[in-house]
Amino acid sequence: MRRARIVGTGSYLPARVVTNDEFAQRLDTSDAWIRERTGIRERHIADDGQNASDLALEASREALAAAGLAASRLELIVVATSTPDYIFPSTACLLQAKLGAAGCAAFDVQAVCSGFVYALATADNFIRSGMARNALVVGAEVFSRILDWNDRATCVLFGDGAGAVVLAADERPGIHASVLRADGRHAGILSVPGNICGGRVCGSPFLQMQGNQVFKFAVRVLEEVAHETLAAAGMSLADVDWLIPHQANVRILEATAKKLGLARERLVVTVDRHANTSAASVPLALDEYVRAGRIRAGHNVMLQGVGGGFTWGATLVTM
Ligand code: ACO
Repeated sequence: MRRARIVGTGSYLPARVVTNDEFAQRLDTSDAWIRERTGIRERHIADDGQNASDLALEASREALAAAGLAASRLELIVVATSTPDYIFPSTACLLQAKLGAAGCAAFDVQAVCSGFVYALATADNFIRSGMARNALVVGAEVFSRILDWNDRATCVLFGDGAGAVVLAADERPGIHASVLRADGRHAGILSVPGNICGGRVCGSPFLQMQGNQVFKFAVRVLEEVAHETLAAAGMSLADVDWLIPHQANVRILEATAKKLGLARERLVVTVDRHANTSAASVPLALDEYVRAGRIRAGHNVMLQGVGGGFTWGATLVTM
């Protein structure tokens, strides 16, 4: 049976680092409050001239180099983003042009912080069905563009970045199983409730969130979807070498690991240095651990997303 394997990873973080103390200089907050409530110490913020496709390009080049694949041979590009360069064309099409990979299918997936897991499952199905022999899957975000920088309850939580993987068809898995879920009844607890109409922004262009509700929802569904994905893959938690949940808040990550009975050493944490990079957080964390030699060939890794929509999901993959 035809399956999809991850054959290369890459990531990119903008050069500018913003520490908690920078926020404390102009807002009623502190490094101690942000670290205690979220685990976040710092985040990277894109320059004004850098868009999601620019971040995606750097991460994609790294992933393609790691895979030993020329961009011109790509058969599919899927970009997960909620902060696209434009309303259209898609960031995936802009990335395709920058990579010089004209001709292959390219589209965006919009599932907010679950976007990368949604995109990975989509590309996996293209490969399983024979529609593509390889795929570039990217999570890229400039959340700094949709934050109210005077709202201490939201602006300290997020950062910018991109992560990418190259998938290739193989007889061995690879991706064992994915479970994707959504419940649109909870759209209101995390949203950017605005759009463009008549040349103006209608509604709000800024991220709004009911933090407590998001927190409780995330911990519950991350536990549930871990069990569902293990069942779909015919595996148990003991088979999982690493858990990479969406990096929103270290307390969400630790509560999820605890509920699952997973040892802290098997939990991947990068939120302390990246903050929440939405669809980019999971591939960024994956690439960091791969390059550090911690996640190695043969390891079983569970990737989990949860975010606006509400959406959530998980993928179980052997590296
Ligand atoms: N600095 C200081 N005080 C703050 C800050 C800040 N940066 N932000 C909020 N506060 C204040 C609030 O105004 C409130 O003050 P009040 O009691 O005078 O009204 C107080 O701190 C407590 O606020 P809560 O919202 O109850 O604090 P909580 O302990 O819930 O922590 C947090 C807030 C960190 C946002 C938490 O709810 C959380 O992490 N939720 C998950 C949200 C998340 O991770 N979102 C990311 C996007 S969603 C996703 O990716 C899945």
